[in-house]
Amino acid sequence: MLICHCHGVYEEEVRDAVRSGARTRREVTLRCRAGAGCGGCRPLIEELVAQDGLPRPERAVTLPVLRNAPATDCGVSATDLKATG
Ligand code: FES
Repeated sequence: MLICHCHGVYEEEVRDAVRSGARTRREVTLRCRAGAGCGGCRPLIEELVAQDGLPRPERAVTLPVLRNAPATDCGVSATDLKATG
């Protein structure tokens, strides 16, 4: 199905964009140009993103290393933590 008439982008190209990591309509537009014209297809693109898009992975959080901390329930001691930096 033709999704974006302005740029001749088909549904499969939009789905490919989502599969390759696009999680917003704007990110789809950056990948395949769908939605970069009149904007009439943007609701359809957003629907496809909602159908196929996976949530973004949570941002990685760097936890502080606690030096001289007692051994934890998981069996990792402060000495082990020091060894890993
Ligand atoms: S139909 Fe997609 S931008 Fe116009």
